[in-house]
Amino acid sequence: MLDIRNNHLIIDDVDTVELSEQFGTPLYVTDKTKLKDNFQAYRSAFPKADIYYAAKANWDLTILKILAEEGAGADVFSEGELYIATLAKIQTDKILFNGNSKTDSEIEFAIKSGVKISVDSLDELNTISKAAVKNDCEANIAFRINPDVSPDTHPKISTGLKTSKFGILESEVICAYKKACDLPNVNPIGIHCHIGSQILDISVYEEATLKMMDIAQKVSSFVELKFIDLGGGLGINYKKEEKIPTPKDLADIILPIFEEKTELIGISPKLILEPGRSIVGDTTILLSRVNTVKKAYKNFVGIDAGFNLLMRPVMYDSYHEVMVANKADEKVEDTYTIAGPICESGDIIGSDRKLPKIEKGDLIAVLDTGAYGFSMSSQYNGRPRCAEVVVCKGKANLVRDKETFEDLVAKFN
Ligand code: LLP
Repeated sequence: MLDIRNNHLIIDDVDTVELSEQFGTPLYVTDKTKLKDNFQAYRSAFPKADIYYAAKANWDLTILKILAEEGAGADVFSEGELYIATLAKIQTDKILFNGNSKTDSEIEFAIKSGVKISVDSLDELNTISKAAVKNDCEANIAFRINPDVSPDTHPKISTGLKTSKFGILESEVICAYKKACDLPNVNPIGIHCHIGSQILDISVYEEATLKMMDIAQKVSSFVELKFIDLGGGLGINYKKEEKIPTPKDLADIILPIFEEKTELIGISPKLILEPGRSIVGDTTILLSRVNTVKKAYKNFVGIDAGFNLLMRPVMYDSYHEVMVANKADEKVEDTYTIAGPICESGDIIGSDRKLPKIEKGDLIAVLDTGAYGFSMSSQYNGRPRCAEVVVCKGKANLVRDKETFEDLVAKFN
């Protein structure tokens, strides 16, 4: 939880100014208590469902371990995410391997690991069957369905549109499951969809759930469906609006349809959800030091973190609240544009923000950076990635060291 004490921003009882002095900046700081609370909010909203945390949102090993201890499964989108989820001791029978363009080696790795696979095309289904035969094992699969629904979100993160690259079309579904029944060493046991991300108007889940249950009804006339996975996508409160939907609100939409339809069809599949952002997004802040302040066309504040560490503003024009962490209680004095150190004019973390007077050496906190922050970072401009700290009830733990220049060159021959 964020607090203000003695004019400083506090995260789970730890002073951010002290963190910046102890560990340097830039620095990602994650609140463990909040992380656990966010996961448990899903647990209590969906008591009978399995929650497969979407590892792409943030695959920090410590974060995955904390979620594994809370009982999370995982949605993984690459061999690397599968590797790290297993390392974090997420049970393999609670992992779904996703991907629209998996390599043969990823498919073999997934089959041998015994995780469920979400199949994105008929072509891929053939590859999976061959790999399962070759390795003398069975592949438990679901098809990723393209449900053709349009959530109100950024087009780049809307994944269930008819035009999207993900999944198979509704018209192909029956043929796909029939083929899966016929092929050797493949067991179709589930159906899967994911309609998009940062969804705040959750009424679209009604349409998606109804479509998926309709498909479940058709498929279950010849397949025993063990799970129905409705993906993730619930948005978080980046703009600090008064009310935004919670996991409970999502459950109020999904569960009545799911329960009524499963009973009607006479099946008892497990419901799976794959939230990423709504588990980690608001657990984390990015601390960054002010290098310089200048008055040009606007008041530009140059900080030591840019889109190398937080890609979202430049990639999706996304808004992240910014605070001056060492002046957290001071009154607004001017309008500032917070610029990163990367040599591109798009490297702006926040535009035209009303903030207390900012000077060189001040500490900027960029809020809600737990999802798709570090996990989308890069070494652009030859900048080593920063350290990560997890705080819990007044204590701070360094969970990832800052990269060094040696790390930058480690793989050159
Ligand atoms: N399941 C699947 C198959 C997904 O592709 C995703 C996200 C999720 C679950 C989790 O969605 P969430 O609950 O986090 O919304 N980089 C973008 C977001 C990309 C989301 C990709 N897929 C951003 O920073 O907004």
